[in-house]
Amino acid sequence: MSRIVYVNGDYLPEQEAKVSIFDRGFLMADAVYEVTAVLGGKLTDFDGHAARLERSLGELGMKMPMTRDELLDIHRELVSRNDLVDGGIYLQITRGAPNDRDFAFPPADTPQTVVLFTQSKPGLANSPAAKKGIKVISIDDLRWGRRDIKTVQLLYPSMGKMMALAAGADDAWMVEDGKVTEGTSNNAYIVKDGKIITRELSHDILHGITRAAVLRYAKEAQMTVEERAFTVEEAQAADEAFITSASAFVMPVVEIDGAAIGDGTPGRVASRLREIYLEESIKAAI
Ligand code: PDD
Repeated sequence: MSRIVYVNGDYLPEQEAKVSIFDRGFLMADAVYEVTAVLGGKLTDFDGHAARLERSLGELGMKMPMTRDELLDIHRELVSRNDLVDGGIYLQITRGAPNDRDFAFPPADTPQTVVLFTQSKPGLANSPAAKKGIKVISIDDLRWGRRDIKTVQLLYPSMGKMMALAAGADDAWMVEDGKVTEGTSNNAYIVKDGKIITRELSHDILHGITRAAVLRYAKEAQMTVEERAFTVEEAQAADEAFITSASAFVMPVVEIDGAAIGDGTPGRVASRLREIYLEESIKAAI
C-alpha cells in the first residue's frame, strides 16, 4: 500500500507528490528537517522537535511556515491516514523554489516547501540491536561548523555510515581535535565509574532532543552526568558506551575501532536508561 504524504498543504499518495527541480533544498541543501518518533500511534517529544525546528529555521533566517498547532495536526493526520503504529515522521522545510538557480537567497516572500512523510518500523521499541549493542568506528569529522542547526546536509554522515558498514561495523563516531563530536545521526556517550559522560552543547553537535530527555531522566535517577568531550581511547577504556536519537532511543555501543567496551555486551546504565526513556516517552506521547 502506498503512503499518504504531505506536500505544501496537500495529502497525496507518495507517487503523486512533487517538488520543483529549482527547490533550494534540492540544489543547495538549503533546508532543515526533524524526525519525530511514533510509538503506539503517538508522537514522542513533539514539543522538543518543534522547538528545535523553530530554532534551526531562525538560525538560517527562515520563518516557521505554520503554527506549532498546525504542525501537530499534520503529524497526527499522517499517523492516522497511514495507520502508523511504530516508526517516525520525517519533516523537511526548505527555503522554497525560486524559478532558477542562484546563490543569493530568493525574496523573503518565496513560499517555503514543506514535506512530511511517515516511516513505519513495527516493533521499533523492541529492536534486537538494543539487546546486542552496536559497533562503531571512528572517522574524522569533516562537517561544517554549525552542526547545531539540523540541516539536510547529510552527505558526510551518509558517507560515514558507509565507511562503518564497509568496516563491518554499524555506525561511525566523528572525531575533531582528538575528541568525539557525535555519531553520524546520534549523540555519543560513555560511562566510566558510574558517571555518564557526553559532549557539552555547542555549535559542534546537534542538540539532541533524546539527549535532553535522557540526561534529565539520568539526573532524576540520581546518576552523575558530566558534560565534556572525550577521546576514542577513553571510550575504549570506558565501562559502557551508548548513543541516543529519536530513531534509536538509547542504543548500547559495545565496540569502537575493534576494541570491546567493558565486557563487550550492553551495559547496565545504558540498558536502564533505555528502559526509563521508553517508559517515560510512551507515557508522555501525544
Ligand atoms: N538524527 N546528532 C545528529 C548528527 C543527528 O542527526 C541526530 C538525529 C542526533 C540525535 O538527535 P535527536 O535525539 O533529536 O533525534 C544527534 C535523526 C534521527 C536522523 O537524521 O534521522
